[in-house]
Amino acid sequence: MAEKLLLRALAGETLDVPPIWMMRQAGRYLPEYRATRAEAGDFLSLCYNSDLAAEVTLQPIRRYGFDAAILFADILLIPDALGADLWFVTGEGPRLSTIETAEDFAKLKGPDDVHDHLAPVYETVRILSRELPDETTLIGFAGAPWTVATYMIAGRGTPDQGPAHALKAENRDLFDAIINRLTEATIAYLSAQIDAGAEVVKIFDSWAGSLKGQDFHDYALAPAKRIISALKAKYPDTPIIAFPREGGENYIGFAKATGADCVALDNSVDAAWAAEHVQVDGCVQGNLASSHMVTGGDALVSETRAIVEAFSKGPHIFNLGHGITPDANPENVQLMIDTVRGG
Ligand code: CP3
Repeated sequence: MAEKLLLRALAGETLDVPPIWMMRQAGRYLPEYRATRAEAGDFLSLCYNSDLAAEVTLQPIRRYGFDAAILFADILLIPDALGADLWFVTGEGPRLSTIETAEDFAKLKGPDDVHDHLAPVYETVRILSRELPDETTLIGFAGAPWTVATYMIAGRGTPDQGPAHALKAENRDLFDAIINRLTEATIAYLSAQIDAGAEVVKIFDSWAGSLKGQDFHDYALAPAKRIISALKAKYPDTPIIAFPREGGENYIGFAKATGADCVALDNSVDAAWAAEHVQVDGCVQGNLASSHMVTGGDALVSETRAIVEAFSKGPHIFNLGHGITPDANPENVQLMIDTVRGG
């Protein structure tokens, strides 16, 4: 049996038709997701209910036949497991107890003490590795230390990550301690996901774009490199996708510098530019604007074709540049898939 398409692209193979999956493919744009979330009670209960989390992971695979399934969980389960309080306010987003002082930090658990809390996530991975179709690759994931730290420090999502930048400027030792704790916990968490059956892991650095110059090196690149080296030492055959979102020029050389097998691109970078400057080093993933999943039509088709064409000379995984939004039309997802697979 031929190896899974996603793994072939990650191994550096240029394929006639790129494998395809979608960030947030299990999400509120799907009626079947909304029904299962209602059954679970709320979003966090869904994340920690292994059977229902596996069910929502499988829903977009059944509906669309994507080449990969991404574990249903959230990047904020790590702070939750470290002992920060976490809850979600409907219509607003996550809220966490804040880490502002050395005393707050001292209350956090150690990096290897997260596993009891995260056991349901590992069980979701085990269920999925049994139940997914043979051709579908299972992707595990975690947030990157910087992105997760921005939520832990501010206690919520912030437009400019101001509180995290302020702590970095005012108390570098504490800031570094948070980044280090998250780096170590992420290594432990992703290792356990791989042990449970994740075939690929992805590191989401959604707020990497607000790190400039030396900060980008110290807090986006260096932690990714530490996580990837630790994982590669234990699991040399498990491919890793890194997503330093809105990295711009910093996408150049990121895979080589960190050891990632693939760099995921957001839609602020031009595909032809990225083919020339980023794909030269290996596989890239991306990068259709998720707004096309709302608007559809000829623009969706022509932009999808343009991205496939721009990346056609090297290894490529087709995806959106960021997660699909709740107002997306499920029919537009089918149109995107048909366009990628059918030309
Ligand atoms: O991609 C997938 O389908 C897998 C599951 C997944 C979720 N979140 C489920 C989710 C993944 C990979 C994530 C990653 C995640 N979570 C990121 C990084 C990627 C990105 O989007 O930049 C971030 C920053 C978070 C934190 C987070 N989770 C926020 C800020 C929010 C609220 C905003 C929103 O979209 O509602 C969430 C909630 C969340 N995570 C939802 C889902 C499906 C929606 C919750 C719901 O069902 O009510």
